[in-house]
Formats: sequence, C-alpha cells, structure tokens
Amino acid sequence: MPQPSPRNNRPHIDGAWQRTAAFAGLLGTDGRLSPTIFAEMTALANELGAINLGQGFPDEDGPREVLEAAKAAIDRGVNQYSPGRGEPDLLSAISEHQRRFYDFTADPGSEIIVTAGATEAIAASILAFAQPGEEVITFEPFYDAYAAIIGLAGAEHVKVGLRAPSFQPDLSELESAFTNKTRMILVNNPNNPTGAVFARETLQRIVELAERHNTLIVTDEVYEHLIFDGAQHTPIATLPGARDRTITISSAGKTFSTTGWKLGWAIAPPELITAILTVKQYLTFVNGAPFQPAIATGLRLPDAFYLGIASTLQRKRDILIDGLTGAGLEVFTPGGTYFVLADTSPLGYEDATQLSRELGEKVGVVGVPVTAFVSPQHAPNYRSLLRFAFCKRDDVLTEAASRLSRL
Ligand SMILES: Cc1ncc(COP(=O)(O)O)c(C=O)c1O
Repeated sequence: MPQPSPRNNRPHIDGAWQRTAAFAGLLGTDGRLSPTIFAEMTALANELGAINLGQGFPDEDGPREVLEAAKAAIDRGVNQYSPGRGEPDLLSAISEHQRRFYDFTADPGSEIIVTAGATEAIAASILAFAQPGEEVITFEPFYDAYAAIIGLAGAEHVKVGLRAPSFQPDLSELESAFTNKTRMILVNNPNNPTGAVFARETLQRIVELAERHNTLIVTDEVYEHLIFDGAQHTPIATLPGARDRTITISSAGKTFSTTGWKLGWAIAPPELITAILTVKQYLTFVNGAPFQPAIATGLRLPDAFYLGIASTLQRKRDILIDGLTGAGLEVFTPGGTYFVLADTSPLGYEDATQLSRELGEKVGVVGVPVTAFVSPQHAPNYRSLLRFAFCKRDDVLTEAASRLSRL
C-alpha cells in the first residue's frame, strides 16, 4: 500500500495570512515570510549598540497620575473583564475630551467603544464594513497595519500618493481614487510616517467625495495631541456633513506614552458602533480593565498637560532636525507626530535602506526606510527617504544629533 508522502501529511497552510503578508510587502516570491524592516533595524541597532530611532515608542514614562491610577485600579481589584463597550467612566471621559478639545458631542452610552489600541478599532472597522472586491482608499506612505488589515478583509487597497516636500495629497488624484466600489477612505492625520498635518481644505474635500460616493470615512487620529507650531488638530467628524459617516479612532498610547497598554477607542453614530462591537466582540471581547480608569484620569488632565507634551516634543523635533540637517540630509519638518522624514539623496545615496545600515555602522544611529510604509510597486518613489523617531530623551537625541553631524 502506498505510504502518504510526508508532504501530504502536512496541514494545509494556505490562508488569509498570505494575502495579509503580501499586502504588507512581507511575502517573498518563494512564499516565505520576510522579517519586517523594523525588526531588522532593531536587531542591527542592538548588534551595533547604535541609537535606535527606527521604532516609534517613547523612552520616558508618561504622567505619574496615569501610572498611579492603573496601579490603584489593580489594587482595588479591577482585574476581570470590563463591559463590552468599555468602562462607563472611560466612555464618559472620552466624550468629555471630545467636547473639551473639539466641541464635538458623542453619547458615551451608544457612540463610543473602547478597543485594544487604535489598531483593533481600525481592524474591526475595516472587517465590519469592507467586503471582498470593495475598495479602501488610504494615502501612501501608510501606517503598515492598514495594508495588512485590508488584505485580511479581502478588500482592494487603493493608494493616493503623498509627495515631498509637503506630503499634502493632490486633490484631483484623490478625487480619481474614488470609484463605485469605494467602501471607505481611511485617513491618518496627523500622518505617520510623513509628519504631515492635512490642510482643512483637504479634509473638507474628503468629506465632499465621501458624500458624493456614499462611502465611510475612518480617521486614525492617534497623534491628535502631538501637533506643533501652535496648529490645532481638526477631527474630520467635526466638519459639515461628516458626522454621520465618520468613525473617529484614537488611542492613549501616544498621548500618555503608554504604547504597551494598547488602549484605544472609536467614536461613531450608534449603528456603526454596533457593527464594530460585533466584530470586536469576537476579536478580543474586551481589554485592559485596569488601564481604563487610568486613561480616564489622563483624558481629564488639565490643558497644561496637553500643551506641555506638544511643546516638549517640538523641542525634541528641533534637536533631531538640527542633527539631520548638519549631517547633510534634506529634512521635511513635520507639523505633527513624533517622526521626521529625511532625504538621503543629497549625500549621494539613492537607496535609504543601504544608508540606514551604513548609518548604524558609521555613526551609530538607526532609522527606518520609508519603503517600509509603501507598496512594493511604489517603493521606487520613496527609495531615498528615511524616517527617524524623536520621542526619545533629550540626552539621547542630543547624542544622536552629534553623532549624525560627524557623518
Ligand atoms: C498611524 C498609527 N495608527 C495606529 C497606531 C497604533 O496605535 P495603537 O498602539 O493604539 O494600536 C500607530 C502606532 O504606531 C500609528 O502610527
């Protein structure tokens, strides 16, 4: 009797993960998964003892009151499942925050849901509404999870390019990205990795196009408080015509330097929240019980805290920009986020990945190539750009700037 070959005994491993990996640019032609550039650059930084400005997480703790509130919640036994939509007090704090900063009213009982970071809110929104064959528009470069989640949903990813020096979208290109298959546009403002803060005119045009094509608008506003030079953040949902079709997503990670807590939220009309809840319920059900009262405390901190984080980060931005400019790179000053892009071509490098490796070796500073945030077919347009994070201690940034100036 013929024996089954070992190959036939292997479980069948084809699945949605391949589309996800392919959309994220991680699937080789041989079907193997390649490591992300973030993992590669972090490994390089560790190996060389270089300053790692590749990954975007702060190296200092956030406000003491917030950290203490999480500890106190654990001590008082807030350690079991929280309600499906989130702790009522956190829902109220999110609603108060929207009213305080944006004069926007959201009912805590029906228009807000707490999620496992902004990422889960984005995933649940895409999975809830985008069907196979439908299109989801994003700007490009994009936060890398977007392509992967769109791939997981089986939808098509339509990209509108953002180009140096302003990284503001071309409005006619934006208009032609909308088709009768467009289900949603996902807008990240302030924008990672470009640092762009979109002009009000752009946001208004997005709303007009979404109305014309009857599409949803999903906004990723995780950097809403990291905005510089006295500018004010405008949530798209506050613009005329936007409220009923917009899902506003944000999270605590960037504002309170608690990226590891993965606590986020979505704000939308009740029927959209119910759909998101239906998906979230079977992804994680609930998350971060003791962190929820802690973030409620954070959201109620006085205005001085919010002004303070923006001005501190602006100072850090300027330290790093001095270093990068001194190294001979062309720098695109970000209006928000904690990232800055630099063009390596003035130094004669066309391939930023190569420079990134060499920077690690020669001067001991590591960034990430912007090609990590674009689809493979558009990578040539972004090949000479590197992204550096400046959410680091002043002494680390000063040292990085002085190392860069030796280049
Ligand atoms: C644009 C953008 N959206 C979402 C996230 C992730 O947010 P969270 O950690 O709350 O899931 C990040 C983190 O880098 C980001 O840059």
